[in-house]
Amino acid sequence: MPSSPPPADVAPAEAGPSVAIADGRPDPAEVLDLFVAAGYAAASDEASLRLLTKALAHSNVIVTARSGGQLVGVARGWSDFAAIAYLADIAVHDQWRRRGIGRALMEAFKESAGGEEVKLLLLSCPEADGFYRRLGLEPAPEALQVRSR
Ligand SMILES: CC(C)(COP(=O)(O)OP(=O)(O)OC[C@H]1O[C@@H](n2cnc3c(N)ncnc32)[C@H](O)[C@@H]1OP(=O)(O)O)[C@@H](O)C(=O)NCCC(=O)NCCS
Repeated sequence: MPSSPPPADVAPAEAGPSVAIADGRPDPAEVLDLFVAAGYAAASDEASLRLLTKALAHSNVIVTARSGGQLVGVARGWSDFAAIAYLADIAVHDQWRRRGIGRALMEAFKESAGGEEVKLLLLSCPEADGFYRRLGLEPAPEALQVRSR
């Protein structure tokens, strides 16, 4: 992991506690709870926790959003800190949406992944397409994938 940048405070649009964005190594169980609350994971079972624990352990950029200690958002992926980074997951708790947390997580992820020098790639899903486009991301028609079985 790169050295942690100072936490940035994000003021929610509505009255409420501020949200701290920082590099971190969250507990896999709290990330799974967040993914379920965000509608991003179907179930909070042992198999999902095992997969997520492995995925987090092998991610080298992880950014969290916390309010009073509670995990309300996370972004994780990989960077070579030289040329390219991949965002694997981003999720914000459904009760904390549309307050700028997703944008702040994306900005912190890019910064922690190496900043403007590093090209950021991700796989979008239909529900998040508008979010990514709002943040200025553009479709990459040259992208190819190996079809998973
Ligand atoms: C996608 C997600 C991370 C966005 O988080 P968020 O905290 O609500 O996003 P923000 O409030 O920072 O939004 C940033 C901008 O995108 C816009 N936006 C957010 N979600 C949007 C959506 N689904 N469609 C269109 N625009 C959207 C916001 O209005 C905001 O615009 P503004 O800057 O003009 O005000 C969140 O909806 C989520 O966790 N979804 C479920 C998990 C998921 O689908 N992850 C992506 C997997 S590919």
